[in-house]
Amino acid sequence: MSKTYIIANWKMNLMPKEAILQAKNIAKEYKSLKGKKDLELVICPSFTEIAAIAKILQPTGVFLGSQDVFWEEKGSYTSSISANTLKEYGCKYVIIGHSERRKLLNESNESINLKIKAALKAGLIPILCIGETFTERQAGQKESVLFDQVLNGLKDIWLKKGDSLLIAYEPVWVIGSGQAVDPDEAEITQAAIKRSLLEFMPAGVVADNIFVLYGGSVNGMNVKSFLSKPSIDGVLVGGASIDIEKFKPIINYK
Ligand code: 13P
Repeated sequence: MSKTYIIANWKMNLMPKEAILQAKNIAKEYKSLKGKKDLELVICPSFTEIAAIAKILQPTGVFLGSQDVFWEEKGSYTSSISANTLKEYGCKYVIIGHSERRKLLNESNESINLKIKAALKAGLIPILCIGETFTERQAGQKESVLFDQVLNGLKDIWLKKGDSLLIAYEPVWVIGSGQAVDPDEAEITQAAIKRSLLEFMPAGVVADNIFVLYGGSVNGMNVKSFLSKPSIDGVLVGGASIDIEKFKPIINYK
């Protein structure tokens, strides 16, 4: 059975106590959900809340992810967190290359590629974020930007049997805007992303090991229109995931 991914990216929005409360609320909502066998629900809090939230989620079936990782395993890398550390704390997923990090922290496709390799080596599932800016879109560069991010982000990466990789297509210009892209456009783009993978990955790997999500102003009203599209395997949710009343209808999208 193929899974539907709903991934909460809390960014830097919640204070520690708020994050703990939101994790408990989400776990409670998940517990009461019917027909959830095919749902993979993931929470990505700040690094500082990972240990506490791991304990809350551990018995629930809701999974934990981090919002970033460093590519080295160990050493003199002040402020950095390794993939093995995240794994030991109970993370299953890691978001890599979010547009906010690309823009504000100059994260490059090269460093993103190293982080994906480190995550896979540690047994984490990377969530590679890609997306075009409004200017790039206006200039007709959307496809070339996305393919460049996919090609360079995944350079020299060979998924082994049992490895998974998620790609989140998040058009930069709709993130946090309250206005998602048209689900039909998202579907066409996601299908094109999957086709672009076929140029450098075996078809079996693309079909079985790689899943493509949509992100950008997903809310309770529009979530179903995205998740009902055949090429959209899930959603990456920012703003609507930090408020339980807004997140409930997303979890209950069916
Ligand atoms: P919003 O859902 O707030 O638009 O954020 C999307 C996002 O950036 C998730 O990673």
